Amino acid sequence: MRHIISPTDLTVSELGELLELAEEIIEDPTKYSDVCRGKKLATLFYEPSTRTRLSFEAAMLNLGGSVLGFSSADSSSAAKGESVADTIRVVSCYADICAMRHPKEGAPYVASIYSEIPVINAGDGGHNHPTQTFTDLLTIKNLKGRLNNLTVGFCGDLKFGRTVHSLINALSRYDNINIILISPEELTIPSYLRTGVLEANNIPYEEVRKLEPVIDKLDVLYMTRVQKERFFNEEDYIRLKDTYILDTKKMALAREDMLVLHPLPRVNEISVEVDEDPRAVYFKQAQYGVYVRMALIMKLLEIK
Ligand code: NCD
Repeated sequence: MRHIISPTDLTVSELGELLELAEEIIEDPTKYSDVCRGKKLATLFYEPSTRTRLSFEAAMLNLGGSVLGFSSADSSSAAKGESVADTIRVVSCYADICAMRHPKEGAPYVASIYSEIPVINAGDGGHNHPTQTFTDLLTIKNLKGRLNNLTVGFCGDLKFGRTVHSLINALSRYDNINIILISPEELTIPSYLRTGVLEANNIPYEEVRKLEPVIDKLDVLYMTRVQKERFFNEEDYIRLKDTYILDTKKMALAREDMLVLHPLPRVNEISVEVDEDPRAVYFKQAQYGVYVRMALIMKLLEIK
């Protein structure tokens, strides 16, 4: 039995197979509409979500399976003080696979130790978000045709943004990747990523404070929301939240074929006028999320 806690829990070749399966599903989704008949996915969400939870549910429904679960800690027995370990033991009796989102880093890992069914980390605190990363990789692969030879800019909250941490981790395994980190001084990436991932893998990277001077170097611009819920004080959030606003003026400086990704939800960091630009692919990206989760559910349930 496999769990997916970190984006590197799949080898590069397994990840390649996963993305290939997702691309086959894109070609002919109806071919897969019955492969999970009789199987159940539990979504255990202790933290708010729209896309991740609904795309997991849509993925399982598209495969002919069923879904059950809860969408907030208040509506589960966590509110009564139940531990994640106990909850997962019980859920193991009701479902065949589960996706868990939790505000505490490591909670899905703890669940995986006690679980009888595959556990997928659907976001743990400021740590990891592997299925968002698989979504991002599928988007880049499908629209750019490659996952190597890329200059990727990450812009916004690089300190608390788990999607950023996961994607940097995953990209570090491909060839000829250049990373440009664009953030305020207070929101730079955690040092474990700088030394343990970027430097350890000899990935060339630079850290800058402004987007305009570097935007023309990028193949992919990964915009992120300032993670309000992870700030210790409101004042800092208010001061930092609108540091970068991508607008048509900035887009005019970028390459014709640069892609703009964003895990969503967007707050102010991308002006709505950019939505019309064909390089803005964040809503397409949300659609890719369903296909890649369909492929992942099939893989973990060992459905051929
Ligand atoms: C992200 C998350 O939850 O980390 N959203 C998502 O899953 N698509 C990004 C965010 O909340 O800013």
